Amino acid sequence: YDYSETVEYLLHWFDYNARILRWRIEPSAYYIWISEIMLQQTRVEAVKTYFDHFVEELPDIKALAECEEERLLKLWEGLGYYNRVRNLQKAAQIIMKDYQGQLPSDYQELLKLPGIGSYTAGAIASNVYNIPVPSVDGNVLRVAKRIAGSYDDITKAAVKRQLENDLREIMPEDRPGDFNQSLMELGAVICIPNGKPLCEQCPVMHLCKAFQEGIQMKIPVKSPK
Ligand code: ADE
Repeated sequence: YDYSETVEYLLHWFDYNARILRWRIEPSAYYIWISEIMLQQTRVEAVKTYFDHFVEELPDIKALAECEEERLLKLWEGLGYYNRVRNLQKAAQIIMKDYQGQLPSDYQELLKLPGIGSYTAGAIASNVYNIPVPSVDGNVLRVAKRIAGSYDDITKAAVKRQLENDLREIMPEDRPGDFNQSLMELGAVICIPNGKPLCEQCPVMHLCKAFQEGIQMKIPVKSPK
């Protein structure tokens, strides 16, 4: 599937419909990083208050690197998946030691840090440093496979890699971060995982194969673990 036609519709929709979130208003490296790690297993509405409290208590990478474990875990209490915050701190300590306290701007360097996979590296590189790389999570896989009308099994690593390659080709050079966010936002509010997607409100309904064929609810295909 060629996603190039979706770009202008998604960006236009995002301009008028994006939820106003602190890390979108102020997309610093630290804010984008913390928010994307929190958002990996947690919805935006729940993340908001945790995010505000976390960055108030630990306003920068240095503070995160130096934080006592007990206090750190307290800041994460209720979010779950505590390895996420342990990796955040490990990465912060590496950044202080090896990167002069600055989150690297290079995609490959970002991938070396604990807790940063292709999704988070892409989110940081595109939103903070305007590098045209994709950021593919479960939301983006679902949205993309529905648009393509594809029954690919999204639990397969090769399927994710293929989508990353396809999206890399069509990333808008001027707004890569917004394009990534628009796919995630569409997945969060319109092309939702549980229940009926809100296709009548979708900016790419006219391009969506799953909508045309009425197979939205059958996609994405996920093989049982
Ligand atoms: N889920 C993961 N990242 C997100 C983001 N930046 N905006 C909305 N939902 C998300």
